Amino acid sequence: MINLKSAHEIELMRRAGKLTAEARALAGSMIRPGVTTWEIDREVDKFIRKNGAVPSFYHYNGFPASVCISINQEVIHGIPDRNRRLQEGDIVSVDVGAKLNGYHGDCAATFPCGEISSEARQLIQVTRESFFRGIANAREGKRVGDISAAVQAYAESFGYGVVREYVGHGVGTNLHEPPEVPTFGKTNKGPRLLRGMTIAVEPMINAGTPGVVKLSNGWTIVTADGKWAAHYENTILITGDGEPEILTAPAI
Ligand code: CO
Repeated sequence: MINLKSAHEIELMRRAGKLTAEARALAGSMIRPGVTTWEIDREVDKFIRKNGAVPSFYHYNGFPASVCISINQEVIHGIPDRNRRLQEGDIVSVDVGAKLNGYHGDCAATFPCGEISSEARQLIQVTRESFFRGIANAREGKRVGDISAAVQAYAESFGYGVVREYVGHGVGTNLHEPPEVPTFGKTNKGPRLLRGMTIAVEPMINAGTPGVVKLSNGWTIVTADGKWAAHYENTILITGDGEPEILTAPAI
């Protein structure tokens, strides 16, 4: 069942969202050649807890860290590692969740490490823009498929592949709630968008084909063709007055 949030719950989600966005920005500020993904994880974990919250991904279904950090051909669910140092030219996807006063925020972004190629820069920019094209349709009375189709059309117009196996989702007292929010699909399909719905829209866009595979660590999802991928996510609120509100604000 899709849970519509009360005004009070929305205020709590704004606070959780703001903290989560700050945690994303902190992770982004640490990205430079030589830093380990473990160091980023520890700093962000400390920051979230210092602010009275709990990292949503910590031990979620057994995930062994607090932040998902995915590099280059890794799409999502990269595991922070003491021995994994970022290198000049990498693109680094950071996915962060924080639970504050019982409510989650969930957001992600892909950051450049030093100087990156123009191809990589375009992939990051198109992935981000596809989110905004999608949420231009996140209006009361439209349907989830209107968001999905807009993301897909924009990303595919650059020849990119939209990941099918992992999708956005409702967010609230649970990190993942109904409805599912794919970033591929057809207009005028799927659940109706209603005021008070809080959903994470999260395009995962591959430079090549849409296919992905899971590594033997049981977590990390990589592109099947080895080309690079980018990820961008915010938790948003469907409002009654047209524009959605980004709860994981500021969007980066
Ligand atoms: Co999410």
